[in-house]
Amino acid sequence: MQLQNHHEAPFPAIVAAGGQTDLAAWLADNRVQVDETLARSGAILFRGFDVPDHDAFDAAVQGYGAENFPYAESLSNAVRINLTPRVFTANEAPPETAIFLHHEMAQTPIYPSKLFFQCVIAAEEGGATPICRSDILLEQMAAEQPELVAKYQQLGVRYTNVMPSENDAGSGQGRSWKSTLGVETVEAAEARLAELGYEWVWQDDGSLRATSPRLDAIRTLPDGRRVFFNQLIAAWRGWKDKRNTPGKSVTFGDGTPIGEADMEAAVRLSDALIFDIPWQAGDVALVDNFLVMHGRRPFKGKRRVLASLIK
Ligand code: FE2
Repeated sequence: MQLQNHHEAPFPAIVAAGGQTDLAAWLADNRVQVDETLARSGAILFRGFDVPDHDAFDAAVQGYGAENFPYAESLSNAVRINLTPRVFTANEAPPETAIFLHHEMAQTPIYPSKLFFQCVIAAEEGGATPICRSDILLEQMAAEQPELVAKYQQLGVRYTNVMPSENDAGSGQGRSWKSTLGVETVEAAEARLAELGYEWVWQDDGSLRATSPRLDAIRTLPDGRRVFFNQLIAAWRGWKDKRNTPGKSVTFGDGTPIGEADMEAAVRLSDALIFDIPWQAGDVALVDNFLVMHGRRPFKGKRRVLASLIK
């Protein structure tokens, strides 16, 4: 495995099981070390532990011991199925659909700080989870186009998404507005949107077009590192289904369009920075959602990768 190295930290960090193959116990014993490594590297791949199924994965996440970020409470636009209160299928989108790099739920005002992934079944072909250091991406963008980075910093970004009235598992962002907002009625949906600062327009077919409030496109972490913390690449390249058109999903925070020229460097540089997690069954990965973007490569055959989010 050819690891990357950024600011003298391997990316990702690898933890290979030694004598102890119980990942739940290992994480409980080594939490401080794990958090230090995660802060430096942004991602850790745990390999060789005994984590065959979603129950073992749930136990491992509980061994780590941080507070759960439940899918039901999130504004994620992906269709997911909970297997335990903490563990869900990563995305029900079809195999040929690429999910481009993003910080989890950065298109909403509510996001998790960390993500766990577990591979139950590795795809026959493809299906890697690409990850990308967002601080390094922003350093490279700023070196090339400082004015553009300053513009993103100043203006922020707004996201527009059309949510169906019922879940559409054929789409990477097919979660219904009822599920997304945790409501049953139009009135309750509007109350929730207003509370979150969204603007919205109901469509003739019962779907809901919602535009987020201004959200930061660049975030400064407590240690001073700046990251390209948003969903711009995923929205720009990938929010495509019968309701959504890529390129129409994002604007700057003042409502002006984000054009090809505004996205070219982010797309090109992030592609070059990708590390593809080469899944083997039983692998677990821990990703710092503030420092590292992730996505999903298209695949062939059966693939089962589960996820669990930390508040
Ligand atoms: Fe994601």
